[in-house]
Amino acid sequence: MEMDKRYTIKLALTSLNLTKKLSQIINSSGGFEVIAAVDTRHPDLLVMELSGDVGKIMKGIESLLKSGKVSDVFLTAESVNPTILMQAMRIGVKEFIAQPFDDMEILDALKRFKERQTVGAVQAGKKNGQIISVFGSKGGVGTTTVAVNLAVSLAKCAGQYSIALLDMNTLFGEIPLFLEMEPKFHWGEITKHIDRLDDTFLSNILTHHRSGVQVLPSPAYLNGHVRPTPEIMDKLLGLMKQMFDFVIIDSGQSTNDSSLKVLQISDTLLLLSILSLPCLTNTNKLLKSLTDLGYMSPDRIKVVLNRYIKKNEISLKDAEASIGTKIFFTIPNEYDATMAAINNGKPLLELAPKSQITKTFLDLAASLSNSKAGEVKKKSMFFGLA
Ligand SMILES: Nc1ncnc2c1ncn2[C@@H]1O[C@H](COP(=O)(O)OP(=O)(O)OP(=O)(O)O)[C@@H](O)[C@H]1O
Ligand SMILES: [Mg+2]
Repeated sequence: MEMDKRYTIKLALTSLNLTKKLSQIINSSGGFEVIAAVDTRHPDLLVMELSGDVGKIMKGIESLLKSGKVSDVFLTAESVNPTILMQAMRIGVKEFIAQPFDDMEILDALKRFKERQTVGAVQAGKKNGQIISVFGSKGGVGTTTVAVNLAVSLAKCAGQYSIALLDMNTLFGEIPLFLEMEPKFHWGEITKHIDRLDDTFLSNILTHHRSGVQVLPSPAYLNGHVRPTPEIMDKLLGLMKQMFDFVIIDSGQSTNDSSLKVLQISDTLLLLSILSLPCLTNTNKLLKSLTDLGYMSPDRIKVVLNRYIKKNEISLKDAEASIGTKIFFTIPNEYDATMAAINNGKPLLELAPKSQITKTFLDLAASLSNSKAGEVKKKSMFFGLA
């Protein structure tokens, strides 16, 4: 994490005394390593004394900053005229340190340097992840099975992606059982401290599963947790989108305001159904309500058929006709494997790596990650003195 990072500083000063004094101040601040002037590494921060050929020094600094070999330069001098100061600002020098050195002034400048670095890193690392909600047309159709195994398969098939798994089932959230984990926190922690929500806070709340998936479970007991409001879900998912390539949500069958908000924000809704008349009827109603009420455009809803057996009384064609849309994916009926996976608290990839259903989840993950728009947000740049 950012906190542990140590920035390197090179001091290009004319006197040994000044170097010693400045090193002392820097070392008292923590988080920095002063490297020798002869060290060939490019430092994160260069502190340069203005003496001699000012024009040449400026040119040197300008090219160092432009090439990105150093990310920040501080200038120091006993005195400096305003024209030179202006010129230094224009080429990207961030701080001017007066001599004799003032401890507080230098510590403040170092603090500002650290803040700039952190902002830069966060901005550069911002993702534009995809939110995929898994919603059951009926209880027990396999929503949690699909959410969990899709998340794990995405982590596996697309090793370079970061994946979060979030449970919207209040009270009856089962993700920790499916993945045999004992999370310290659930989203009650977030609703309680919504003002503190940022990437560091969220990273500390999430529980890491060995598959690489980061899990945010729901509260296991009704002990007066603040319910997630639509505004909270908006804020939480907005942040998660920046931090993860994929956010998979086990939506259960919940249609309260917050769950509808989540659907609205989702890039893709996997609407889970099975080949039974009551379930298909529900799927139909859900498709209509969600699109008619404007919660989701039809192209973002993908119907996934779970527990699929070819020799069913209702054929795929019948099903498609009855819901008026194509079926995006079918997941085979494999009761033994899914049941064993649940009872052992292991994802299918671990428990039944060779099975057809595991392959299907990898295919589903691949098809969803292929359609991911690999849009990278432009790193924002700041010029001049911050
Ligand atoms: N593809 C499948 N083949 C066979 N059985 C399955 C399949 N998917 C899920 N199941 C079984 O269906 C049952 C319910 O699964 P799961 O808990 O994932 O459903 P759910 O929709 O999340 O249920 P709930 O509404 O209780 O949250 C489990 O016993 C599971 O083993
Ligand atoms: Mg469930």
